[in-house]
Amino acid sequence: MNNLFIPQTEIDRQYEIARSLVSETAGKKACVITFGCQQNENDSERIAGALELCGYEMTENPDEASMIIINTCAIREHAEIRALSEAGQFKGRKERDRSIKIGLCGCMAQQSHRREQIYKSYPCVDFVFGTDMHHRVPEIIKNALTAKKRFSFITESKHDEFGIISEGMPVRRENSYKAWVPVMYGCNNFCTYCVVPYARGRERSRRREDVVAEVKALVEQGYKDITLLGQNVNSYNGGCDFAELLDECASFDGEYRMRFMTSHPKDASDKLIDVIASNKNVAKHFHLPVQSGSSRVLKLMNRKYTREQYLEKALKIKEKNPEISLTTDIICGFPTETDEDFAETMSLVKAVGFDMIYTFIYSPRPGTVAANMEGQIPKAVSNERFKALSDMENDIAQELNDKFIGKTLRVLSDGLNKNGVPCGRSTQNKIVTYDKFIPAGEFVDVVIETAGAYALGGKIK
Ligand code: 5AD
Ligand code: SF4
Repeated sequence: MNNLFIPQTEIDRQYEIARSLVSETAGKKACVITFGCQQNENDSERIAGALELCGYEMTENPDEASMIIINTCAIREHAEIRALSEAGQFKGRKERDRSIKIGLCGCMAQQSHRREQIYKSYPCVDFVFGTDMHHRVPEIIKNALTAKKRFSFITESKHDEFGIISEGMPVRRENSYKAWVPVMYGCNNFCTYCVVPYARGRERSRRREDVVAEVKALVEQGYKDITLLGQNVNSYNGGCDFAELLDECASFDGEYRMRFMTSHPKDASDKLIDVIASNKNVAKHFHLPVQSGSSRVLKLMNRKYTREQYLEKALKIKEKNPEISLTTDIICGFPTETDEDFAETMSLVKAVGFDMIYTFIYSPRPGTVAANMEGQIPKAVSNERFKALSDMENDIAQELNDKFIGKTLRVLSDGLNKNGVPCGRSTQNKIVTYDKFIPAGEFVDVVIETAGAYALGGKIK
């Protein structure tokens, strides 16, 4: 791909447009509503940063906002329905006050069949922009404030071309001690169930020096938990491999944790496993989506590894890092999945011993290979498998968590949970509750006394 990076002149132009809007937006509020993954959360922080640059005050309450942007997810049908119903809710308000502007962006907006549906059925949506347009938010906002007609900012080129990287646009971080840092965008894997390669284009990496500088600045500002983000971080190639990038990002002074999301099992290298073991600033948590325990289904999914290869890698990770937590994603009810295939998934889960599983029911995504496969599985069967897997995982997680009783864990405080109980996260990303309030963003040692499948409890040492 040519011109991977957006030139500084274009970034300067966006800053200029933003500045030109400040008098018009004075006293006005904007709101970004986010669905989906961490990548989307981070995109929203960048959109919010650009909105602030344009002069808006950000609010979490859309009722106060005159500029509302809905950042959508397309990974499963459920996510799409939720985003559309969110958009629909503004219909009445929009009819009463035409000056309110509503924009829709993200993975759903990137797909042409969805855009057509939005244009047809959601007249309250004023504008749409794609996943590679975040650096142009000032220009989009200017258009929204002046245009008489609905408009869209989308790279219409084929999915194997779109995708560019912008550096230097502002980020408005939601949290003062936890941060996301994208290292790469897009995906080249084309797992047959997955919409991501169509919605986010081909893999492209940020420059090593840009990523490292962003992490360094965050550490200096006092951030304690930083996650490197990408659909498939192990194929990072912005000047070094991912293991080196992670090691370098975790090499600054001070107590903080580096995390990463997400790895593809075929690319998770021994070098990466060693960096996790040897670098004290790398969190002892590995999220390694397996998707299925049946080699036959994995082949149909185009995952490029077998059950045996996954098992070998998972056991190696655990052996090299005895205190690590290993989590995964599993899809139930992929087309043609038999009872025998599912039994293999169950037995793999038992053999590995995952700390947590994100279980999903297969959702056919228009345009993907699997959506047109014969042998779609009835919902009732998928639901049954989902429940069997969740029940078994509960027992496994309980057993793994019981082993923490009596141990001391270093916990990064999140302040209070929604029940008003002091809580935080361990290096394994386990939720830990304890007896005394500790301000969010501070580390504390907790002696574990109780364990459940989803959380640990203890007393401050
Ligand atoms: N249906 C169900 N789950 C899916 N995922 C991705 N695509 C689909 C789909 N079409 C799951 C995978 C992936 C996680 C982010 O979402 O398990 O790892
Ligand atoms: Fe989707 Fe597979 Fe890429 Fe993950 S690796 S984003 S599941 S295509």
